Amino acid sequence: MQISPSIMCADLMNLGNDLIEVEKAGADSVHIDIMDGHLVPGFTFGGDMVRRMRDATSLPLDVHLMSDAPLTHMAEFLPLGIETLSVHVEASTDIVRCLSTIKAAGVRAGVALNPGTPFGHLEECLGLTDVVLIMAVCPGFIGQKQIAACVAKAGSIARELKARGYSRTEVVVDGGVKIENVARIASDGVHRVVSGTGIFRKDMSIGAAVAEMRRQIGATQDVQQHAGRRLNHPENRA
Ligand code: DX5
Ligand code: ZN
Repeated sequence: MQISPSIMCADLMNLGNDLIEVEKAGADSVHIDIMDGHLVPGFTFGGDMVRRMRDATSLPLDVHLMSDAPLTHMAEFLPLGIETLSVHVEASTDIVRCLSTIKAAGVRAGVALNPGTPFGHLEECLGLTDVVLIMAVCPGFIGQKQIAACVAKAGSIARELKARGYSRTEVVVDGGVKIENVARIASDGVHRVVSGTGIFRKDMSIGAAVAEMRRQIGATQDVQQHAGRRLNHPENRA
């Protein structure tokens, strides 16, 4: 399972340094929360900031667009060399057009689901969806407590996608991910986690936090592999 630090939780007065630390820590990508002050209350980054971030790191950029005018606002970010752009299904009157526009720009298309939004809302656009970004907190604020039911939802979405042949669709959990709960999420078949305050903390360096998260994930995945090997052992086959 991959790790994407959420850069809005970095030290914004030292963003360049924190990006270097994130890359040195071995993170897999950088999650960038864009807030429009409308779909969610706050404002964060605009296109100029994302362009500067693109220049400052070679990690893939994962843009989470919290905007109620996704088609209008995505135009600012799509040409910047980002890897993924996710829009909220709740905010989009035409999700198919949004996803098609993202893909036409050569960017991976993601759909973000709020805690109260069921998987069924994606039914008509699964073939266009590269990433399902499952919010495990209500979007808009960092440092919230994770909603356990959303992690269970992520697990069942991962299983459903696999069962229906969409095994290349990436399932991501965003919000409330910490060293203490990342093992539980890894055990549910999720492909990537986004973590903000779980990685940018006062009592630990970015490198130490990412390493500890990896250790927790690795321990879970070792147990799973071991269980898989046991199940596949000829003596244990039915
Ligand atoms: C919430 C954002 C999250 C947030 C995560 O609106 O989408 O990406 O930065 O922060 P933590 O990990 O502190 O919940
Ligand atoms: Zn996010």
